[in-house]
Amino acid sequence: MKYKILEMLKKYGGYVSGEKISEELGITRSAVWKHMNALKRDGYDITSCPSKGYVLDEAQDKLSPAQIAKHVPGKLYFYKSTTSTNDEAKRTKDAPDKSVFIAETQTAARGRLGRSWASRGNGLWMSIYLKPDIPPCNIAQLTLIAGIAVSRVIENSKIKWPNDILIDGRKVCGILTEMTAEADRITSVIIGIGINVNTETFSIDLIRKATSLYIETKVKQDRNEFAGRILDEFWSVYDEYVKNGFREFKREYKIRCTNIQRDVVVIKNGEEITARAVDINERGELVCMKRGDEFSVNSGEVSVRGLLGYN
Ligand code: BTN
Repeated sequence: MKYKILEMLKKYGGYVSGEKISEELGITRSAVWKHMNALKRDGYDITSCPSKGYVLDEAQDKLSPAQIAKHVPGKLYFYKSTTSTNDEAKRTKDAPDKSVFIAETQTAARGRLGRSWASRGNGLWMSIYLKPDIPPCNIAQLTLIAGIAVSRVIENSKIKWPNDILIDGRKVCGILTEMTAEADRITSVIIGIGINVNTETFSIDLIRKATSLYIETKVKQDRNEFAGRILDEFWSVYDEYVKNGFREFKREYKIRCTNIQRDVVVIKNGEEITARAVDINERGELVCMKRGDEFSVNSGEVSVRGLLGYN
């Protein structure tokens, strides 16, 4: 019943009186009041005014830990502001498997290869904490399957190997995977996902390379619902990966990957090699061809860009 009330508040947009809700849904005024409190406890921003009724304040675009927690099998750690959710995940002792660290703002977010990450506007900045039973050499595959999960949710997106999610050649999401390991055993993996969701503009240096869902669709997303969809998709892909390995995903990754059969510049230790990307192998490496010789590159140490620009 509480979701019917939520639908009604969404449908009418402004204030709706308790009397109208009780008549339309055939419940008592005190039941309306109880369901309204349950929705507030779930994290919905509902304002009550004795003379006007109830209004759902969606315009606030705030993260709701209660709503997001429903999509987290482990524990949800929420921060209004922190340096980096990946750092929080690393710092936290005894976080259960499949926990999520999420922040409204990050002040020192990190990207791949030692770069910084601009956590601008109302985006989704979160880190997924896992304790997978896989050998450390397979960690790159986890990065790739996270990319698949995000790309499945974001319409018209492609993956730039290893895990930048692009729309029309501009980056909407970046993924930074880090791990802690002992000898030959992974103790934890942290998959940091940054998605430009409701960001309205970018600085001049980013405007040609970056985009957001809002810029692409002109529609503001409900970030709580969106986070839920990303997490649900991630758990389903992850569980399948743990069961069957990367082999199951190789074909889908290749279809989603923007680099295949295009020329790329592989940048390794400052040296640039131009080659044609031809495949993704079982280990999740990018297979390239140069003058008839095949070589594969691992995501850990290289940067890849298209010959004609970012993608
Ligand atoms: C990249 O494209 O270079 C990776 C960017 C990863 C950004 C996310 S935002 C959440 C998490 N916290 C961080 O400090 N980084 C990742």
